[in-house]
Amino acid sequence: MLRNLMLRAAANPFLVGRLATLGRYSGLFRRFIAGETIEETIAVVRDLNRGGILATLDQLGEGITQESEAVRATEGYINLLKRIRASGIQSTISIKLTQLGLEIDRDLARRHLTCILEAACELGNFVCIDMEGSAHTQATLDLFREAFDSFGRERVGIVIQAYLYRSEQDVKDLSALGCNIRLCKGAYMEPPDVAFPRKSEVNRNFCRLLDIMLPSPAYSAVATHDDAMIRHALQTIERHRVSGDRYEFQMLYGVRRERQWELARQGYRMRVYVPFGTQWAPYYMRRLAERPANLLFIVRNLFRR
Ligand code: FDA
Repeated sequence: MLRNLMLRAAANPFLVGRLATLGRYSGLFRRFIAGETIEETIAVVRDLNRGGILATLDQLGEGITQESEAVRATEGYINLLKRIRASGIQSTISIKLTQLGLEIDRDLARRHLTCILEAACELGNFVCIDMEGSAHTQATLDLFREAFDSFGRERVGIVIQAYLYRSEQDVKDLSALGCNIRLCKGAYMEPPDVAFPRKSEVNRNFCRLLDIMLPSPAYSAVATHDDAMIRHALQTIERHRVSGDRYEFQMLYGVRRERQWELARQGYRMRVYVPFGTQWAPYYMRRLAERPANLLFIVRNLFRR
């Protein structure tokens, strides 16, 4: 109920605008966002790298409706790839196709994706395509498949959401191709004819998909903060003797930091998804929706000021 309210609010431009003003004024956005500039973000990633943790950088922004904004986002990502290389930090990038213009025109998004992937090739980096709401799933997978055929798994990967009914077949297809797949539970509001409505069902499906991905030729990124899911992944890895260079764990910046360090210390490859930029409000709302305690934390801190 609260989750649905927050996710609805994340799609409301008025509320998103108010939250942005409040969050910037109070500084509370920093709980889940590394900073508003690349410089601040590079410093955050350096700290993670020092502790043996890798990063993937998300230049925040989504649902773009103006071609000029999509061009700016694409240039921003190409610049980001150059800055990653110049600074020597260990980080890939994560992008959203609606930020590159998918809602304006699929060809536009394809052209922008290609430009970013060409830059990634030149600079020896990797691009993960985030998965957005189910209205975009098929288009995102189609563009991913084209990019995968041209650039290969060393350069481009895709996210699959365990809450979607269709994901089992998608994971089977992508795993057989040996793709780089990040498995997460899914963060958007979806109707019950598209996604499992109950958390227990999503969790069960997450484990089922891990069982397909991990022993397959895919490279698997296990993206969750849920200890039960992590345990299941570790058991599957052990059972199938999956070697350490075929999988990694991923978590979000600001969520379960101790667990991130712990997994890294235990020798697992750990990557943190680090969002930055000024367009942080919709992302922030999704993080609040995931855990009511986060909302209480924000309200308490606002009243303390
Ligand atoms: P769950 O929500 O059940 O949480 C398990 C436990 O983790 C909680 O009990 C709590 O302790 C902790 N926790 C989880 N979220 C928290 C939060 N916000 N604040 C504090 N504690 C929290 N989604 C999507 O639709 N498309 C995408 O492309 C991505 N990409 C992505 C990348 C990476 C690296 C991660 C880790 C996640 C995503 N997601 C995503 C988000 C994902 O779908 C999901 O919404 C969140 O990861 C929360 O789900 P958990 O698996 O952590 O489980």
